[in-house]
Amino acid sequence: MNAKIFKGKVAIITGSSRGIGKAIALELATKGAFIVLNGRNRERLLETEKEIRTIHNNVISVCCDVSEISGGQLLVDEAIKAFKKIDILINNVGVSMRGNVADLNPEVFKTIFDSNVLGTVYPTIPAIRHLRDSHGSIVFISSLAGIRGLPSTSAYCASKMALRALAESIRIEEAKYKIHVGLIYVGITEIDEGKETIASDGSQKVLESRRGRKGVQSKESVARAVVKNIVTRKFITVLSFLGKVNAFLQPRFPWLVERIILRNMKKFEENNK
Ligand SMILES: NC(=O)c1ccc[n+]([C@@H]2O[C@H](COP(=O)([O-])OP(=O)(O)OC[C@H]3O[C@@H](n4cnc5c(N)ncnc54)[C@H](OP(=O)(O)O)[C@@H]3O)[C@@H](O)[C@H]2O)c1
Repeated sequence: MNAKIFKGKVAIITGSSRGIGKAIALELATKGAFIVLNGRNRERLLETEKEIRTIHNNVISVCCDVSEISGGQLLVDEAIKAFKKIDILINNVGVSMRGNVADLNPEVFKTIFDSNVLGTVYPTIPAIRHLRDSHGSIVFISSLAGIRGLPSTSAYCASKMALRALAESIRIEEAKYKIHVGLIYVGITEIDEGKETIASDGSQKVLESRRGRKGVQSKESVARAVVKNIVTRKFITVLSFLGKVNAFLQPRFPWLVERIILRNMKKFEENNK
């Protein structure tokens, strides 16, 4: 893989103070990309900036909420102010939820869509004209939950499916400007301490660690797959064995996938802890 293409490229990664976003920022920084970090918690963001600075000093932190229009705009404005261009936008921010539809506080849908859908739209709109100049990349971080609706995660699945439509529209609209649009279907991945999910009543709940759990990917392997997606300018990247099987079966035999899920409800409940 020709990783040299990242030298001096400017990459914005939303939600990059921890987890997968941080792993992507570190991977791109080691390949020479200039990094624009983002998150809402300033302290955590500055800790991550310190880590990037052990690689190089071409990094800035933009503390803002991308689920607000002003946050998306600020992120892009600060990147341009610091580095004069944008080559890569990774829309990584995303939050999960738990609970069957019947039990959900309807606000849960709003919280999830604000973060997972609008939180990608708000940085993307102001970034597009800069990405046209650089013939750059927009990458959306989706989930296996974006391939088919799964139990107890309806709002999350719906939000990740919406990213597919958004990505497809932008690919066509921006084809003449040679903007690459990538969509990554990520499987169950290790999480950092303190990662929250939204409970059915709308409150935040901290997730259990997944370290050592069977079938859990490393954040670094996800980051490498994102880099590969950009280098090859591929549209869809599906991660994990389970993801590849699901992506093959779902469009052809949706009834079979449904039957498999119904037979494995216990496993789903375990994974949703
Ligand atoms: N982990 C998995 O198993 C898994 C599987 C499939 C897909 N994914 C997807 O991968 C992406 C990253 O997941 P993750 O597990 O790494 O999440 P995470 O550990 O919860 O990290 C989320 C990051 O986003 C920031 N953030 C959250 N909301 C934000 C907002 N509105 N504006 C700005 N920053 C915000 C957080 O910092 P602050 O809280 O300080 O803002 C943090 O840096 C998500 O899109 C997720 O859906 C994850």
